[in-house]
Amino acid sequence: MRAFEIVLVLLWFLPKMFCTNVDYDHRALVIDGKRRVLISGSIHYPRSTPQMWPDLIQKSKDGGLDVIETYVFWNLHEPVKGQYDFDGRKDLVKFVKAVAEAGLYVHLRIGPYVCAEWNYGGFPLWLHFIPGIKFRTDNEPFKAEMKRFTAKIVDLMKQEKLYASQGGPIILSQIENEYGNIDSHYGSAGKSYINWAAKMATSLDTGVPWVMCQQGDAPDPIINTCNGFYCDQFTPNSNTKPKMWTENWSGWFLSFGGAVPHRPVEDLAFAVARFFQRGGTFQNYYMYHGGTNFDRSTGGPFIATSYDYDAPIDEYGIIRQQKWGHLKDVHKAIKLCEEALIATDPKISSLGQNLEAAVYKTGSVCAAFLANVDTKNDKTVNFSGNSYHLPAWSVSILPDCKNVVLNTAKINSASAISNFVTEDISSLETSSSKWSWINEPVGISKDDILSKTGLLEQINTTADRSDYLWYSLSLDLADDPGSQTVLHIESLGHALHAFINGKLAGNQAGNSDKSKLNVDIPIALVSGKNKIDLLSLTVGLQNYGAFFDTVGAGITGPVILKGLKNGNNTLDLSSRKWTYQIGLKGEDLGLSSGSSGGWNSQSTYPKNQPLVWYKTNFDAPSGSNPVAIDFTGMGKGEAWVNGQSIGRYWPTYVASNAGCTDSCNYRGPYTSSKCRKNCGKPSQTLYHVPRSFLKPNGNTLVLFEENGGDPTQISFATKQLESVCSHVSDSHPPQIDLWNQDTESGGKVGPALLLSCPNHNQVISSIKFASYGTPLGTCGNFYRGRCSSNKALSIVKKACIGSRSCSVGVSTDTFGDPCRGVPKSLAVEATCA
Ligand code: GAL
Repeated sequence: MRAFEIVLVLLWFLPKMFCTNVDYDHRALVIDGKRRVLISGSIHYPRSTPQMWPDLIQKSKDGGLDVIETYVFWNLHEPVKGQYDFDGRKDLVKFVKAVAEAGLYVHLRIGPYVCAEWNYGGFPLWLHFIPGIKFRTDNEPFKAEMKRFTAKIVDLMKQEKLYASQGGPIILSQIENEYGNIDSHYGSAGKSYINWAAKMATSLDTGVPWVMCQQGDAPDPIINTCNGFYCDQFTPNSNTKPKMWTENWSGWFLSFGGAVPHRPVEDLAFAVARFFQRGGTFQNYYMYHGGTNFDRSTGGPFIATSYDYDAPIDEYGIIRQQKWGHLKDVHKAIKLCEEALIATDPKISSLGQNLEAAVYKTGSVCAAFLANVDTKNDKTVNFSGNSYHLPAWSVSILPDCKNVVLNTAKINSASAISNFVTEDISSLETSSSKWSWINEPVGISKDDILSKTGLLEQINTTADRSDYLWYSLSLDLADDPGSQTVLHIESLGHALHAFINGKLAGNQAGNSDKSKLNVDIPIALVSGKNKIDLLSLTVGLQNYGAFFDTVGAGITGPVILKGLKNGNNTLDLSSRKWTYQIGLKGEDLGLSSGSSGGWNSQSTYPKNQPLVWYKTNFDAPSGSNPVAIDFTGMGKGEAWVNGQSIGRYWPTYVASNAGCTDSCNYRGPYTSSKCRKNCGKPSQTLYHVPRSFLKPNGNTLVLFEENGGDPTQISFATKQLESVCSHVSDSHPPQIDLWNQDTESGGKVGPALLLSCPNHNQVISSIKFASYGTPLGTCGNFYRGRCSSNKALSIVKKACIGSRSCSVGVSTDTFGDPCRGVPKSLAVEATCA
């Protein structure tokens, strides 16, 4: 061949060498001709910062994920029609590339309806004002916009060569989101809409498969997938499609006024193993890292600012043990079965009541899953001539159909303790500043006001440009109104403050179950002129349900004065001429940046007074640990650090006393209200300030306080990993130690204790506790039992200090025998630095 011919051949082959072919069949996604078992996890890029992404992705990879899933948030990228924004936390391309750099795949769920506890389900507000539009059903205005945005994102990904078909990481895309849950409300138009959405998506020619979740009638070639706490019973709508789980809820979201949800890892692991036992090959954790709802991005109403979700990586980016570690072990165990899983369908058989075996066997490969779905009783089963102990609500995984490498109810993973360390704000305040403030005027104070007869719905009026809408009225009373007047207000929500003649008379907030308000406030009116100023506010717009965009908010009435002249006289104010102001004066002045003038700085602060803007300067807490502000002492509002919103704060919204458990029984079906914590306490006191928002010195913190609070009580906290621990028994391990599978001896060596620092730049710096013998207690509170080798501490120190991870054999070979004939274990607590 001549040189130019070689070049031609190369030119023809090169793109193909770097392209990945993604297809599917009834068993699995097929990547470059090979069926794959894939573990995926959701990380939503705007819920953290670009500075956090690489670490979150690396921790996901270390946890055994193959795929990162994210939604695409339309209202973030196109806040104004035709004006796109992909900067900073919105840099979708950068995020997808960061995943690619870590060697992981991407599932891009474009939606563009995403739900996601995200404001208005991800729809931009301007969409609502397009004449004739109806969301998520068959009508031209909606379809045109949905297609335009979907195509915009697909084009952007194509330009950057991010689809697997172009050599990029995206192997899968989603259109719509859980439409099947609500499509019955839309009749036949719903059906034609979903058919249209499927065609529209496929016509965009991404070269990778599309999915629709919770959509039993998803038209070919779209794969219908399952969302839920369990998806083992799910089957796709065609035998040509694989069984996929797009949302395995790793916990649940938090609401202001709600308790903190917690999903035990034993149950989560059980759900995962059951899914793979019953033929699944793709599973995604929703969420793997939940993160933070910055700005006013939360959906709602009443979704909290923290979107921690009890996920394997916590809001601050720190791995949550033992959830992260146990799931990592589960992933390893499942991957040991991959060859068998992709080779054939499972043969499911009963081993007795509530007992089930699934065997994947063909040729020389064989993997089995043994499940005990009894919610109470442990059982011993006979399988292939051997007997196996199965704790209640657990699955054992046997990658060779014989040896159990993992049981979902037995946690072998290391544990860790991380804690918040508090610093008083006064120690961080720059001496020159302390607190300064500006009072937000009560009632109408801006020039651009609106006067209308009757009460206006809020979202149609504000277009969500602000949480706040003033409803103001002047009232001339000829006679003495008496002292028993009550102001009756009905509102669609979400919260309101009523001011009479400039003074706060009362307020009320709804909650996530009931956002409508119906309030009677005793008020004092005077004869002559009175001012009624009602501040109505939204706390995140609805994101779920049929016609969620039409639910509405604000004081739609009636508004009635009752008990006038100390009698039964009433006066309906609903159809009077009201004056409206959208948003606050301080919002217009840009006070959130802290830079504008007019800040008062006398030494007496307004305390516990409504509607105050506060500002201070502070130095960043030292070190590199994640930072939070503890807003205890404040009421409700929004906070900005160096002009960037860290979200709404509301530490006074306390969860009800009922519905929590101290000890959560993981056995039995999980629901979002099972295993809640923190009853009777504020739903959220700590609010994440990403390190990248901070400079070492001279940072500005601005608060807008609505209800009243004392900013001097605010404190800063840094979250740090206090200890990593492990406790391993030397008795015959019930399962092959998964860690030892990595060693040359093939995994059949004796048990070993493995310690490792979660951060790549850390090493084990000290051993706080080590005992071989009969140690007792839990991580942070280990203590020696009756029997303890006196060599343990020095042996563990020697093996571990200075390394990121270490492994110590748990046997008398390592430590000698401190007490013959007694089953022994090794417990270690270490610190990383
Ligand atoms: C699902 C939805 C997600 C999220 C989740 C709850 O129904 O698809 O977007 O809202 O519920 O966290």
